[in-house]
Amino acid sequence: MSTQYRVAVVGATGAVGTKMIEMLEQTSLPLAEVKLLASKRSAGKTLNFNGQELVVEELVPESFEGIDLALFSAGGGISKKFAPEAVKRGAVVVDNTSYFRMDPEVPLVVPEVNKEALHQHKGIIANPNCSTIQMMVALEPIRQAAGLDRIIVSTYQAVSGAGAQAMEELKRETLSYLDGTPANELNPEILPSGGDKKHYPISFNALPQIDVFAEDDYTYEEWKMINETHKIMDDQAIKVAATCVRIPVFSGHSESVYIETKEKTDVAAIKALLEKAPGVVLEDDPSNQIYPQALNSIGKKETFVGRIRRDLDVENGFHMWVVSDNLLKGAAWNSVQIAETLHEMDLLRVE
Ligand code: A2P
Repeated sequence: MSTQYRVAVVGATGAVGTKMIEMLEQTSLPLAEVKLLASKRSAGKTLNFNGQELVVEELVPESFEGIDLALFSAGGGISKKFAPEAVKRGAVVVDNTSYFRMDPEVPLVVPEVNKEALHQHKGIIANPNCSTIQMMVALEPIRQAAGLDRIIVSTYQAVSGAGAQAMEELKRETLSYLDGTPANELNPEILPSGGDKKHYPISFNALPQIDVFAEDDYTYEEWKMINETHKIMDDQAIKVAATCVRIPVFSGHSESVYIETKEKTDVAAIKALLEKAPGVVLEDDPSNQIYPQALNSIGKKETFVGRIRRDLDVENGFHMWVVSDNLLKGAAWNSVQIAETLHEMDLLRVE
């Protein structure tokens, strides 16, 4: 086993990939080499890593020769095709796409919640959906203490979750609208979902569609929150409903989360738990207008929780506001944190 790891970032030029590079600059993992991979279009470009200019290479199966760890964020199709190529060559893959998440052979991990699942890995570990991760970090301490019967979540998600081009689309539409272009002439091309037929402006708008529609008229993003919660918490009985909404924010996902606990608890007990929970920052002081905000979460690895209130009608019902940087804890940081945890558990290798 290497004592220093050779790491590849797949999708290094993307919204998440560039953050993966930043997280690798800060990691406690001993690194021997960082290799940046993207499409042919980006081959030859350079990106900075710890003051060094690294040349981006075109992704091919042979890119993984000699690689110990591969962080993927280049879309599900790329993970489907290339993650097995990486594992075949001895690399452990941490995949940020949804492609392997529900595969029973693949652990789906939020280190604060279920790092023990890493023992089961066979080369690929899936990084959960960004909205799911921050909700899990906030709710796991409450589940441990009082059980969780039901979750109802509404999300307010940033455009960076849809990639670098979606961020450009928000910027272009905003400038264009402020310049006097009418809403029906903004020519959206990506959002709400690059894979769907119609596109709507995101600037000055709120779109109740993330990913395409699926069973029971829930979107895939909503199904991801439901199914991934069950898998990560290893409990199919938790009732989960989600409404996922894209809003014109560049980064930082916000969520209004309603829960019903199995056992009796109260707001003070929940606050006390979250105050010392790993990865959580409690920001909850209404008298001083202190609560989590998307803008303040940018660049931070933690999940911020506030506005914790009892429901006025349901005895074990509670409401809260949960915010995190979707590109960091929701993606790049959780992936690198999984790699650090694998290293600590002596599991950063393919058996
Ligand atoms: P490229 O910049 O060369 O297109 P985002 O999620 O921000 O849209 O980024 C997607 C990432 O996935 C980018 O780094 C992009 O590289 C990469 N990517 C897209 N298609 C491919 C491909 N066919 N092979 C390798 N990387 C790809």
